[in-house]
Amino acid sequence: MSNYEERDDSDILKENLKNKKITKDKGTRATVENVLDQRTLKFVNKLIYSGTIQQLNGCLSTGKEANVYHAFEGDLLQPDPLLKKQYAVKIYKTSILIFKDRERYINGEFRFRNNKSQHNPRKLIKIWAEKEFRNLKRIHSYPFILCPKPVDIKNNVLVMEFLGDYNTDSTTKPALKLKDYNDYETMEDVYQMYYKIIAYIRILYKVCRLVHADLSEYNTLVFEDDLYMIDVSQSVEPEHPMSLDFLRMDIKNVNLFFSKKFRNLVLFNERDIFQFVITETLDEMEGLLIKNNDRDEYLKFLLEYIPKNVGQKLTVNDVEEDKIYRNLYLVRDLNGLEEKDFDRFTDGKFDLLKQLLASHNKKYAGKKI
Ligand SMILES: Nc1ncnc2c1ncn2[C@@H]1O[C@H](COP(=O)(O)OP(=O)(O)OP(=O)(O)O)[C@@H](O)[C@H]1O
Ligand SMILES: [Mg+2]
Repeated sequence: MSNYEERDDSDILKENLKNKKITKDKGTRATVENVLDQRTLKFVNKLIYSGTIQQLNGCLSTGKEANVYHAFEGDLLQPDPLLKKQYAVKIYKTSILIFKDRERYINGEFRFRNNKSQHNPRKLIKIWAEKEFRNLKRIHSYPFILCPKPVDIKNNVLVMEFLGDYNTDSTTKPALKLKDYNDYETMEDVYQMYYKIIAYIRILYKVCRLVHADLSEYNTLVFEDDLYMIDVSQSVEPEHPMSLDFLRMDIKNVNLFFSKKFRNLVLFNERDIFQFVITETLDEMEGLLIKNNDRDEYLKFLLEYIPKNVGQKLTVNDVEEDKIYRNLYLVRDLNGLEEKDFDRFTDGKFDLLKQLLASHNKKYAGKKI
């Protein structure tokens, strides 16, 4: 079916390394060889033989945990690259150093509870890739949050829709990270982006039942003037014992980025954003919007609701309240408290999530939405 059948793994590797972008410098080449060990190559080849992708093109990103490559769809009947589908191929590295941290996310996940292979690095990396694939699928199954469409997965090699353009001069132009995007015409555009990312956090939590857990200006891309979420391998369900801590961290990252990049922007209190994300006050109204499956309508509602109802950081007191909130012990109920914390709890040293929510509900009780 493909031209590759006669060749073995090392031929394919050589072919890939011939590509100018990949061989650009020694550092990149070393990384490529590092990621594409014989075993990984076998999975890349499987994707080629099965007709999912044609071959790996240039490298879009080399990171600690994964490399991302550009690839064309495998359909050889479509020779025009401008008409071919383009994919991003994310290859998770099998280096052992980083696994300790990964277990933190996988442990406590109901979906992965029966997995006994968590201590074998190769198996763990497979679980990790599958986790990203499943999370992308879940997010993509709703129209509300944009993310790359997941296409295929073979062990630690994940194929998804490429966000970006293919130019007539055969170069690729990947979507910009939120960090590098500057195409705002007015300050109002910046605010809209800020509101949208906050709306995404709530939709992710309420509709997709996920907390991103590594949300930042690096893991959000802007493509065709809209916001995409990526890098969801570590995302967890709200039932994960640390989900609320991850949620708090995501919110902090978003605020930190906007405060650094746009010094005059009036931010929301992190505590208020957190309450907005988890509050049940909106559930009923939102239920109808979710049922309608209309992204524009749902986003319009949230983008209007947010600036009217989420508290702004205006006074020294607001700053102080956020400091307290950052140190709150976030457990859902008393069953989630560890024994050693019981005394601290009875001494009133920390709040419970329920109290945080109760204060929110009181604040908005009777308020017209
Ligand atoms: N579908 C995609 N389309 C276009 N570019 C992408 C896509 N997926 C990833 N990228 C690019 O690759 C970069 C890294 O991807 P991602 O965040 O998923 O990997 P990572 O897990 O952060 O890797 P590491 O942590 O090792 O850097 C992104 O910041 C983005 O620039
Ligand atoms: Mg990333």
